[in-house]
Amino acid sequence: MNGPGPGPARLYSDNKKMRRSKRCLLSLTLLLAVASGSLLEPALAGDATAVRDKVRTLCQNCHGENGVAVLHGAANLSGQQREYLREQLRAYRSGRRQDAQMNIVAKTLTDADIENFADWYSTIKVTVETPK
Ligand code: HEC
Repeated sequence: MNGPGPGPARLYSDNKKMRRSKRCLLSLTLLLAVASGSLLEPALAGDATAVRDKVRTLCQNCHGENGVAVLHGAANLSGQQREYLREQLRAYRSGRRQDAQMNIVAKTLTDADIENFADWYSTIKVTVETPK
């Protein structure tokens, strides 16, 4: 059911990468918290504190609390469309979309979790600038 997945060596190096990215995460989080206080105050339908705690536990090591990826190869999620996020999480959960890390994470999620995470990341405001 899980398919051929990565071997132990790949998982080990992913863990090492994750530890390295944690150090970056701390400075990035602090920087963004200072630079853009209002960025981290999304208007959520559910219990924002509970959702934030879950984001911190389950997602932030790779995607950041603010949805700016801290793990090489993880996607930026902030400002993404809610429907898109929801669909991707469902697809990872069912195995329709394959990714070694996301399949493991998504398997633990309830429908309500998926709604909440889609809500969290889609509600973060982003501004964009096209190349000059
Ligand atoms: C161990 C690292 C890790 C964790 C923890 C993690 N992700 Fe991911 N996530 C990734 C990677 C790597 C990808 C890119 C996978 C791919 O190429 O399909 C990804 C992709 C995604 C995507 C698809 C983005 C797109 O543009 O299609 C979504 C949505 C997502 N993650 C949400 C979450 C949520 C919500 C959590 C917390 C519940 C989470 N992830 C936890 C590593 C992680």
